[in-house]
Amino acid sequence: MTTSRRRFLRHAAAIGAAAVPPLWLGGCASSSPASAGLPVITPIATRTTSDVPRFDLGVASGHPSATSVVLWTRLAGSDLPERVEVRWEVAHDESFQRIAARGTETAEAAWGHSVHAEPSGLEPGRGYWYRFTALGDRSTAGRTRTAPAADAAARLRFAIASCQKYDSGHYAAWRDVAESELDLVMFLGDYIYETSSRPDALRRHEAGYVKTLDGYRARYATYKRDPQLQAAHASCPWLLVWDDHEVDNDYAGLQGAGLQPDFAAQRAAAYQAYWEHMPFPKAARPRLDGPGAPMRITSRLDWGRLARIHALDDRQYRDPQACPRPGQGGSNTVSLRDCPALIDPARSLLGTAQEQWLAEGWDVSRPWNLLAQQTIMTRHSWRDASQGDGLYWTDGWDGYAASRNRLLGVVETRKVPGVVVLGGDVHAHAVADLKADFDRPGAPVIASEFCGTSISSPGMPQERIDAARPFNPHIHHSRGDQRGTMRFTLDVKTLQAELRVVDNVADPTSPVRTDARFAVEAQRPGAQRA
Ligand SMILES: [Fe+2]
Repeated sequence: MTTSRRRFLRHAAAIGAAAVPPLWLGGCASSSPASAGLPVITPIATRTTSDVPRFDLGVASGHPSATSVVLWTRLAGSDLPERVEVRWEVAHDESFQRIAARGTETAEAAWGHSVHAEPSGLEPGRGYWYRFTALGDRSTAGRTRTAPAADAAARLRFAIASCQKYDSGHYAAWRDVAESELDLVMFLGDYIYETSSRPDALRRHEAGYVKTLDGYRARYATYKRDPQLQAAHASCPWLLVWDDHEVDNDYAGLQGAGLQPDFAAQRAAAYQAYWEHMPFPKAARPRLDGPGAPMRITSRLDWGRLARIHALDDRQYRDPQACPRPGQGGSNTVSLRDCPALIDPARSLLGTAQEQWLAEGWDVSRPWNLLAQQTIMTRHSWRDASQGDGLYWTDGWDGYAASRNRLLGVVETRKVPGVVVLGGDVHAHAVADLKADFDRPGAPVIASEFCGTSISSPGMPQERIDAARPFNPHIHHSRGDQRGTMRFTLDVKTLQAELRVVDNVADPTSPVRTDARFAVEAQRPGAQRA
């Protein structure tokens, strides 16, 4: 670990000292500023009016390009004026002596006093520090980096993470991410959960089920005050996609799972709050004049000559789930015989326009194409499917099999190199081969899949997953009883994966360890246990 990195982590640990359980700071000897004799960062001016620190929700960066990266914060406090000028700075050094870019953004009440700064003219493939100043307060400094130049040789160290249900566990997995010296975090959905907390929850959501703009804002604030999540955000840029719980469980386009008549208004509030709290560019801001406030999160990121990353949205444009329960929307688990709509070619998980955008954007010049998307792609039958009547969950790609076949068909016919599908949603670490025909053991492997488990959301009993293993021989690994992330190192030849697991999700200081390792060779689709 470099000296500046170590100092950054100490700094990050100091961010949320008021909110952090004492055990976390005390339990992490190497992260304690006092024990290392380093100065604890203090605000530049004494706060006089605010009831909370202005930068209580932390800082974040995201969606990097070779010359820019979005810098995010959101001001806190009940006494904020309508408009607040917020200064931002990007520096080459931790002490902000060598400034690379600076500017001012106006944080407006109408957009939750969020700040989305987009510096220009940064140098490709290098690390920076950034911070904000407003109303006499200064934020902590975050670490970020730009993507390498399009023609540069590069390596990529990244993690995937998803499903951080706050009331189900602590975020030791985020501490592990913050300490991992990564270039990029891909967050693949379920940043918040809209639900109320059970009376016996480990820690409580601040209110019940949310469906209003104020409600979603308060829910994000609850999550974002977690110091280990703040440290992970402040450690490197993130690329984000959403899943369903940022709005409502199992929603599809403009249809809520409960067929709520006011769902478009709920989605509009949720999309607005999502943009307000995430490091997306201003161009992605939801259009409040459209039904459900459409927001484009589909994006593409080239990482030097090494990889093209395609970030997908499988919620906003999907057809409703096939064969729901009577009088309901949302997911179900059904057999193919009872629900032929599972394979109806007219149905799509991505929508026609996004399917076409992906089909036309595969990169055959770089060795790797990474797909950052929400849910498990591999076929997963809950019973023997060899006689053609498997049992499938309708919310994932199994509910949209024709859409999956079209995607993999393009990869196969165009010989797209190094396709690795990254996902979340199912609260299980899963490693699988993707094939055009999952029922034919000899069918060629077209792509590799790594679906990461949840940060804290509860998973399915392992016995149920183990019972289905014989029906899905293309799945190499599947653990629903572990929480954590997946960490990757990507070079021209190989993708190396470490399945990181938290020993005890109820303990914010829990150790995090590598439970399994896999590797994929660029020229040879399919994961091998390493
Ligand atoms: Fe989830």
